[in-house]
Amino acid sequence: MRQALRFVVGLVLGLALLTWITTILVQKTTRRWAVNDVHLRAQLVVNGARQVLADHWRKDQSNELRNTLTEIARDDRIMAVAACNADTSLLASTKDFPSKFSCAELSDHVRPFTDAPKDMWSAWDQPDSLPGGSVHVSAIPVFDGDRPLGFLVLVHDLSYAEHREARTQQFVLLAFGFLAVAASAVTLLAGRLSWRSWSDELRRLARGEAPKQAEFRPILRDVRELVDRLMVERETEMEGGAWTPQRLKLTLKRHLQGERVVIVANREPYIHETQRDGSIKVLHPASGLVTALEPVVQACSGVWIAHGGGSADRETADKNGRIRVPPGEESYLVRRVWLSKEEEQGYYYGFSNEGLWPLCHIAHARPVFRSEDWRYYQAVNQKFANSVCEEVDSADPIILVQDYHFALAPRLIRERLPRATVIMFWHIPWPNSERLGICPWRKELLEGMLGSSIIGFHTQSHCNNFIDSVDRFLEARIDREQNAVVQGGRSTLVRPYPISLEWPVHWLKTAPSPEACRAGVLAELGLKPDALLGVGVDRLDYTKGIEERFLAVESLLDRHPEFRGRFTFVQLAAPSRTLIERYHQLNESVEQLATRINERFAKDTYRPIILLRSHHEPPTVFRYYRAADVCYVSSLHDGMNLVAKEFVAARDDEHGVLVLSQFTGAARELTEALIVNPYDIEEASSALATALNMSPDEQRERLRSMRVFLAEFNVYRWAGRMLVDAARLRRRERLTGRLAVHLVESSSS
Ligand code: F6P
Repeated sequence: MRQALRFVVGLVLGLALLTWITTILVQKTTRRWAVNDVHLRAQLVVNGARQVLADHWRKDQSNELRNTLTEIARDDRIMAVAACNADTSLLASTKDFPSKFSCAELSDHVRPFTDAPKDMWSAWDQPDSLPGGSVHVSAIPVFDGDRPLGFLVLVHDLSYAEHREARTQQFVLLAFGFLAVAASAVTLLAGRLSWRSWSDELRRLARGEAPKQAEFRPILRDVRELVDRLMVERETEMEGGAWTPQRLKLTLKRHLQGERVVIVANREPYIHETQRDGSIKVLHPASGLVTALEPVVQACSGVWIAHGGGSADRETADKNGRIRVPPGEESYLVRRVWLSKEEEQGYYYGFSNEGLWPLCHIAHARPVFRSEDWRYYQAVNQKFANSVCEEVDSADPIILVQDYHFALAPRLIRERLPRATVIMFWHIPWPNSERLGICPWRKELLEGMLGSSIIGFHTQSHCNNFIDSVDRFLEARIDREQNAVVQGGRSTLVRPYPISLEWPVHWLKTAPSPEACRAGVLAELGLKPDALLGVGVDRLDYTKGIEERFLAVESLLDRHPEFRGRFTFVQLAAPSRTLIERYHQLNESVEQLATRINERFAKDTYRPIILLRSHHEPPTVFRYYRAADVCYVSSLHDGMNLVAKEFVAARDDEHGVLVLSQFTGAARELTEALIVNPYDIEEASSALATALNMSPDEQRERLRSMRVFLAEFNVYRWAGRMLVDAARLRRRERLTGRLAVHLVESSSS
């Protein structure tokens, strides 16, 4: 509005200047017209009386001449007339001829044309003024044949022209005044209307609605960016530098000039399964990888490329295998890759889970490597790399390759997208180089992984194992200062990035209170309200130490009889990789062990171990976490183990105790848990007893400290740190690329 007012003031000043100039022009033009007019009239009058004048002049009849001049002066525009001889003496004049215009006075002006030949003569005109107003004086020569007799001086009244000028000036002023008022009013009105439409649009933008006018779209983008930035800055200030989805998004945008990441992972975040009644159910798989990555891809609105393994996956995706998720929110894209039974068998069950999984975990399962599985592993890695190339939207995309299923993918992607930023994260432990030597294709695996820009592990010791393996099996330079492997001039950083959870965990938003969870779970399990409850949540996998866990429960009841009949351990066990023989055996042995222990301590309805062997959706899992007095994570070897972190996250009531295996990555971070060696059954059972006897204050103190840690070291930080490192690397590569070009240019010149 202030702008509009400024414009109006400028407009009025401009119009005033224009009016002034116009008035002067109008005045001059009107005067010129008037002078022309009187001059013409004078010519006409004199021409009409020329003969009579010449007669009187020649006969020197001054009285008759005066009468004729008086006749001429009857014209209402002619005030006075005088007849001057050629020698400039006055011959006759009307009565009130002003002395100011004497013949002698005018002779200087008249002589040049009275002396000139007749056909060149013309009148002399001069505006002047008298006390009564402005006049115009003109001199017109009079001839007798060719002989000049003298000249007539006519004084014309120009006051009528003055009136006309004054009226025209008034009109001009009025017209311009009107124009100024109208233009100001229109400007102010337009300003007001556009202000209103701007503020309406801005209000719409602020409410998050789409703008109606297309020209507002760039502003919407800018405003959103600004709001995002302010929010991130504010949040960062308030939370002492905490990572949030917004901060992650901004990091991606600011450092990597992109908003979208492409994630490659074998397991998809949403599985569509056909139920017995023909309906389709969406399942969240039991996978730490999915738990961690889902919030990241949601924040970055990217694409998740995964094996479409659900029985209703094909019918719920489009013809390209794409589907928008999460159901109902549709904030990112899942691209399903279809695998044949043989491919799934060879690549997933065979090479990945019978070969690499036991190779990387110290859990005493023998790795099996078959050349046929290896061929499928290669083919499926190529298939996923092709899908990546179909999904990227630039020549230098950001691609996050996940886990041991895709050791070859980074190199295959790099071959087709040399400028891509490929970050590979290995979610399970990396073995020492001696153990890696078991694998017949160790070199190919290492070469494949080194196609990445960054390789991440959960712990520094896994990074060290990887670098030692490269050192042992490949021709490559190890940059120990940078923790990088340099091959063919390209660096791959090898860094620890301990994975974590979103914070706060979104499942808690809808979770019942811990009291309600406890009451509900105890009732469901048929336990007394004062029962003590332990919980374990795992895929049925031999690395999770489920047998050792049950043995620790047995030992607890053995050594602490006070807990018999009171303490129950419930194990949520999701069936996993069931086509593999070792997993079959595990199923049976776990079942048998639970039965044996239950039989040993059974009393009335009391059974110390409840084994729930089925898939449980996250809301159920979180209800169990919130109901339990103790959670025991007894992995024999685990990259991180997010169950431990989920239990801590679930306990916003700061009640409950975590007993945690020292062989998990989580044990390095959650140091306030009761850390145990799961192989040491007595030690573990003592830890369970300590947990069950722990005072509420100590429980609170331990949980509070771990929760503070998780709030800060959340999964956005995990992804953010990798992306920031990738951005640094990208900048460095661009710089060295430019430098190399520069050196080539200068050496050739
Ligand atoms: O965290 C290790 C991991 O193997 C993930 O890669 C995987 O998603 C999860 O465990 C569950 O295993 P699977 O996908 O074979 O069921």
